[in-house]
Amino acid sequence: MEVIISKTAEEASQLAGALVNNAVRNNPSLVLGLATGSTPLSLYKEMVKACRAGLDYSRVRTFNLDEYYGISPEHPQSYRKFMNDHLFSKLNIDLKNTHVPDGPAHCATYEAAIKAAGGIDIQVLGIGSDGHIGFNEPTSSLASRTRLVTLTQQTVSDNARFFATADQVPRYALSMGVGTILESKKCIMLCFGANKAKAVKGAIEGGMSQFNPASALQMHPDTVVFLDEAAAADLQLKDYYRWAAANQPL
Ligand code: PGA
Repeated sequence: MEVIISKTAEEASQLAGALVNNAVRNNPSLVLGLATGSTPLSLYKEMVKACRAGLDYSRVRTFNLDEYYGISPEHPQSYRKFMNDHLFSKLNIDLKNTHVPDGPAHCATYEAAIKAAGGIDIQVLGIGSDGHIGFNEPTSSLASRTRLVTLTQQTVSDNARFFATADQVPRYALSMGVGTILESKKCIMLCFGANKAKAVKGAIEGGMSQFNPASALQMHPDTVVFLDEAAAADLQLKDYYRWAAANQPL
């Protein structure tokens, strides 16, 4: 994994944004895997900024990592609505080219659609405080595919801030599997804030384990992890990552 530590989440998002925008510039029909949550919002702002400055997103195709099960796409907290509000409505993207998992009956179709698109070129990831990527919670098989999953109590409580009452927080979700994510040609994982430091440490410096699904990225040939200082706080080899970033082999 390439580990890039920035002073702030804002700076890290600018670097990640430049990477995504350049990839779209080089391949206008790029296939992007996308994530929800507060983490990628600044990255999405960088994409919108570039689009407003003339970068064409009209042929870009997208596949989201996950969606809650049990709420409709029109629900204010659905991930389809999140993506439409925060990104798709602000890009010149064709909504027909945007995909979000939409029911347990369609998991195999979702995987087939990713394959038919030629696979995911760049997968954007956040990390859960429990190490999840997508909604692959601890103990998810590292070979898992898109499927219906039960969220952990930790994730349900992390997500409760978006819902009026605790009993409205979905307990199930559809998620690409760890195996699905590992097939992406490139992964970029963004991790910001002190509450991610422990999961980040496990993902980057721990042994690969289904207890920290993000650690499966250690097996991925092209993953870049963008961190702010707070999320990097527990890393043992912080100085080496900075050194390596400043001394890239040609
Ligand atoms: P967050 O969620 O970006 O809202 O912290 C990340 C995740 O749970 O994957």
